[in-house]
Formats: sequence, structure tokens, C-alpha cells
Amino acid sequence: MAFLADSLARIKPSATVAVTDKARELKAAGRDVIGLGVGEPDFDTPENIKEAAIRAIREGKTKYTAVDGIPELKAAISAKFKRENNLDYKPDQISVGTGGKQVLFNALMATLNPGDEVIIPAPYWVSYPEIVSLAGATPVSVETTMESGFKLMAEALDRAITPQTKWLLLNSPSNPSGAAYTRAELKALTDVLLKHPHVWVLTDDMYEHLTYDDFVFTTPAEVEPALYERTLTLNGVSKAYCMTGWRIGYAAGPKFLIQAMAKLQSQSTTNPSSISQWAAVEALNGPQDFIPRNSAAFKERRDLVVSMLNQANGLTCPTPEGAFYVFPSCAGLLGKTTAGGRKIDSDEAFVTGLLEEEGVAVVHGSAFGLAPHFRISYATANDILEEACGRIQRFCANVR
Ligand SMILES: Cc1ncc(COP(=O)(O)O)c(C=O)c1O
Repeated sequence: MAFLADSLARIKPSATVAVTDKARELKAAGRDVIGLGVGEPDFDTPENIKEAAIRAIREGKTKYTAVDGIPELKAAISAKFKRENNLDYKPDQISVGTGGKQVLFNALMATLNPGDEVIIPAPYWVSYPEIVSLAGATPVSVETTMESGFKLMAEALDRAITPQTKWLLLNSPSNPSGAAYTRAELKALTDVLLKHPHVWVLTDDMYEHLTYDDFVFTTPAEVEPALYERTLTLNGVSKAYCMTGWRIGYAAGPKFLIQAMAKLQSQSTTNPSSISQWAAVEALNGPQDFIPRNSAAFKERRDLVVSMLNQANGLTCPTPEGAFYVFPSCAGLLGKTTAGGRKIDSDEAFVTGLLEEEGVAVVHGSAFGLAPHFRISYATANDILEEACGRIQRFCANVR
């Protein structure tokens, strides 16, 4: 439509939302469909957090707040960075927005000009390249491999940097691969960035608390203090505190950037919900003991899914360090035909066949910039996962 903005033509709708919609459609038509497409914990928000929100409503904390966060929440975030990441961020270096996504959006919109490049290791979260494109800049996808654990290697980063590079966008643990960088792996990347002083790093640490097998989480500004002045550290309460619907995310970085992000937010959504902000204060300052409990449940599910997928004909599924996703390869099935007579010529054809013939909804890897793979979100009950993986095994066994 000529009436619509040109900028809209540059972006694609979210593939993960499309899969979820398609699964919902089939279910509504009476089909037995298991959806493994959505990226959110199935656990409920803890009671103490809900109570804090109810208290905020009763106490009349229901008005506009400071644009980028109430002082109490900024103090709680500052304490979190000190406690968990050994990072010093003052309240005026912290920005709170309506979910991590808005904070990311603000940061990219506030810094990117046409011609600027943003390096995004693939597979990536679907929103990264789209927001970069919306800002008029150029996403530079750098493919990783299953053999490298889906991690960006120092040489590949070095090769991708040009005079136009503005940001490196890192995400560990990763959506969609679950890959998380060790301190040594991050150090190899930060060493490259030290050689290129014009490149900043935006690190999306949203899945920080969801790591398994004694993995030790770390973040670029902690690994390389010399990068502190050109790092934006993004995090939020959505995943770790089971608060996806509350819409609170935050970032910390240099004051001038935080001010620019607040300026943008002041002309769009103003403050995030006052009630959600009070809930987030309780999330960060209150008891943290449910986090390892949830992680243990996720680890059990990860192990179940990885084991069952590796027993499926033609699939290879590495064991990720974190998040609640696996990103198996379906390369072994390419060129073959499903029981329903569908030719599997791509990962997209694989996921379409799986949905149509076995009623399991997953997302094709090409949507995340790396084929031939698919993403499974295992943030769902064990018995459902077992049933879904059983169906995947049957689907693959019947491929000829
Ligand atoms: C890697 C990553 N970053 C950021 C977000 C956004 O989180 P929020 O729900 O707080 O906007 C998500 C959500 O799916 C994500 O997977």
C-alpha cells in the first residue's frame, strides 16, 4: 500500500509469532497440535512479586513515573549489577523500558544512521536485524556453525568489522541456540574489539540465570573493563522471573547514551507501567531461591529433549549451555520425502511437514539466519515434551 511508510517494507513480521498463530489456527480447527514455538517460561510469576504489584495498586502507585524508571527500581538494578556481575552502574547510567525489546529498540534507534553496520552472529533472535533495518542501518549477519557450538569466533568477528561497524550485538545464552560464551570465549572477542575502538558492544544478557551444568555466566564489561565505556549491558525480568507479560527490561551503559534513550522513550511510550516497575523492584530485591529451582527443571527438560532428538533419524542436536531452546540440524533429511509425500528441500519444508503431518509446531532455522536447523522451545511440561519428541521421532523415521 502506497499509504504505508517505506520503512515498514524493510522489515519482516516475526516468524515465531507466525508459527504460534498457525498452530493456534490448526488447534481451533480441531487438530491436535503441540506448540513448541513460544519463548516464555511456563512457570507462573512468584507470589511475592504479584503481591508487590497488588500493594502498589492499593497504595496508589498508579501515576506517571520518571520516564526511564523509578529511583527504587534503578537502585535495585544497580545493586543487581554489583551483586551478580561485579559491575558498577549508577542510577543515571540505567534505563528501564517496556520489556528488553523496547530498551534494545531505543538503543539502536538512538545510535544508528543509514550506512552504519551492526554485526549480528547467526543464528540470532529474529528482532535484531529487523530493528537495525528499521533504524535505516545494515545488519551484517555472521554465520556460526554447529561445530563451533554456534559461537562467533574471534577471526570471524575481526573479518566482519569495517569502518562502518557501530555495534557488535551479542546474546549469551542465545535465543535460538542456547549457546553461552565462557569467560575465555568472550575474552577472545573483547580482545578483537580492543583493536577497533570505534566498535561498541551491545550484550543481551536476558537469559543470564538460565544456564546449566555449573556453567559460569559472565558479560563483556566484566570480562574486559577497558570496554566499559563502549558497552551497553541489556537484561530484564521477563525470563528469569517468569514475568514476560509484565514488560520490564533494562540496560546500563554510558550516561550520554542512557539520556538519549530516555529522550526517545519520552516521545513514545513514556514510562513503563508503574505497577510492573514495583513488581520488578520486588523481583530483584526479594528472594531469589526459585531461580535455581526453575533452572533445575529446565535442565531436566533440556536433557530429555536433546536425548530424544538425537535418537531421531536424520537429526543432530547439540547440548546447549543455557536458555530454554535447542537448535538441532535437519541436514540429514534434506532431499528426502515425508510419509505425507512432502519433499524436504529446506528446514522450512521440514517444519511445515512436521506441523501438518504430526501436529508439532517448531520454528525453522532460516528465520534465525541459519539453515538447515529448527528451534524448539522446551519451556513446557515434561509429558508434553515427551509426546512432542515422540512425534518428531515418528515423523523422521517415516522420511524416505
Ligand atoms: C534474546 C532476547 N532478547 C530480548 C528479548 C525480549 O524480552 P522482553 O520480553 O523483556 O521484551 C527476548 C524475548 O524473547 C529474547 O529472546
